[in-house]
Amino acid sequence: MQQKKQIRQSLELISSIPTLPVVIEKLTRLLQNPQTSAEEIGKAITTDQALASKVLKLVNSAFYGFPGKISTITHAIVILGFSTVKNVVLTASIFDAFRKKGTGIEGFDLEHFWLHSIACGAAAQSIAKITGSNQKEECFIAGLVHDIGKIILCQHLPEEFHEAYVFAKENSILFFQSENALFDVTHQEIGGFLAERWNLPKDLQNAVKFHHAPSPTRDYYMMTAIVHCADILIRALNYGNGGDMKIPVMSDNVWKNLGMDSIPLSQLFEAINDEIEKASIFLQIT
Ligand SMILES: [Fe+2]
Ligand SMILES: [Fe+2]
Repeated sequence: MQQKKQIRQSLELISSIPTLPVVIEKLTRLLQNPQTSAEEIGKAITTDQALASKVLKLVNSAFYGFPGKISTITHAIVILGFSTVKNVVLTASIFDAFRKKGTGIEGFDLEHFWLHSIACGAAAQSIAKITGSNQKEECFIAGLVHDIGKIILCQHLPEEFHEAYVFAKENSILFFQSENALFDVTHQEIGGFLAERWNLPKDLQNAVKFHHAPSPTRDYYMMTAIVHCADILIRALNYGNGGDMKIPVMSDNVWKNLGMDSIPLSQLFEAINDEIEKASIFLQIT
């Protein structure tokens, strides 16, 4: 318990924890107003030139279905819609905030971590599509950030991260079990803390906080369930590495409530593989 408090306090004190660019807040505000035009959104995004050029590269990738056809942000909004463009901006910003820094932890490869994260996002998007959810893009972001707490731990409390990493390896347990055993707090709560600080939507916050313990009695269960399922399937398909060598157990309630029994596994895996292949562009652009 003491450890839990200490970790929380240490995180509160770290002023260098990345923030999202102001443009995200501005976009959220603008999008609440139904009168906002595509030009206004385009203008808001282009105030951050570096971000705008990444957004343009992403929207022109195969992932969004119009490769090489979109010339300006306003054009992207007309073709893809407000919410897709906002999600692209959010995705590019998340990468900007975290991707470039190294870990300094032997054996924990950041490239594998990001592949795990992108693959989880892509798989969550596929599962959302297959199960008829209308939150495909939000599921992509939820999958992308589900393990972000590990990066916070790794970059801001590297000793604790290293301890958890070694303990998981030595005892052949999952990373979150190791964190639980050592600190009584896991990357779920740490990531949740960041998601709250970033003001991400509540369903996304919960997907981060509970992806290893989805419960149908909790609010916003479906997105958590989708991310839980995606995380496990991509581990089984061997995409990337989230810091341990084990595959978590699939929750019965998730499998049942998502209706996965009625979906042929070959079709599911094919859809996931396709989506991951398209999403791998994110690793090259960002
Ligand atoms: Fe996790
Ligand atoms: Fe994960």
